[in-house]
Amino acid sequence: MNQTGQTQDELKTLVAQAALSYVVPGEYLGVGTGSTVNKFIDALAASGIAIKAAVSSSVASTQRMQSLGLPVVELTQVERMAVYIDGADEIDGHGFMVKGGGAALTREKIVAAQADRFVCIADASKRVEVLGSFPLPVEVIPMAAPQLVRQFKALGGQAGLRMAHGKPLVTDNGQHVLDVVGLRITDPLGFENAVSQWPGVVTVGVFAHQKANVCLLGTSQGVQTTVYD
Ligand code: A5P
Repeated sequence: MNQTGQTQDELKTLVAQAALSYVVPGEYLGVGTGSTVNKFIDALAASGIAIKAAVSSSVASTQRMQSLGLPVVELTQVERMAVYIDGADEIDGHGFMVKGGGAALTREKIVAAQADRFVCIADASKRVEVLGSFPLPVEVIPMAAPQLVRQFKALGGQAGLRMAHGKPLVTDNGQHVLDVVGLRITDPLGFENAVSQWPGVVTVGVFAHQKANVCLLGTSQGVQTTVYD
């Protein structure tokens, strides 16, 4: 709870509602994944704004949208979207983000890359000066995981396999996720470039090339809007 008594959950609701003004009626809309996006999906369904269809970044978001009667199409049916709306685990002063806490980072990056504008919705706890406090998610091909753990160790990070119900978590793409702690990512573009080249890395959770163009941050003073470009 913050000084004005708002919980993190309430701040997520606030930014989810604010994101409705970025939805272009009659157009395709990219939709991310996570608890903040869930609130956005609920708000979109309640708003009555008619989109052509949503392009989803995860099975979970697809199911939620369909259950609320929102139309969803495959990304393969869409060439470009005006807007992609998603949360973040961390966002810095340039709009660079860490994402993947919900293990949907690969599809999130793919869908975001086909959108003209990334609108990030997050509560104030996500705003950081330097990326790396939140464990960095990296989707990996399972057979490469031990070598990738060693490579992150050489960078000063400790990588651990994400588990779910006593077994390695399996993503929507059938792969595993490493979470890396102990990193201080001062050059997000360089870091994303380098780690993306490592054999066995499917997607690194640094979103520097697919950075946010707009951030709607839920704070005790209300929604703070930052435009990065
Ligand atoms: C999903 O894989 C993530 O990238 C989410 O966007 C991120 O974890 C933010 O999630 P919350 O909105 O639940 O904090």
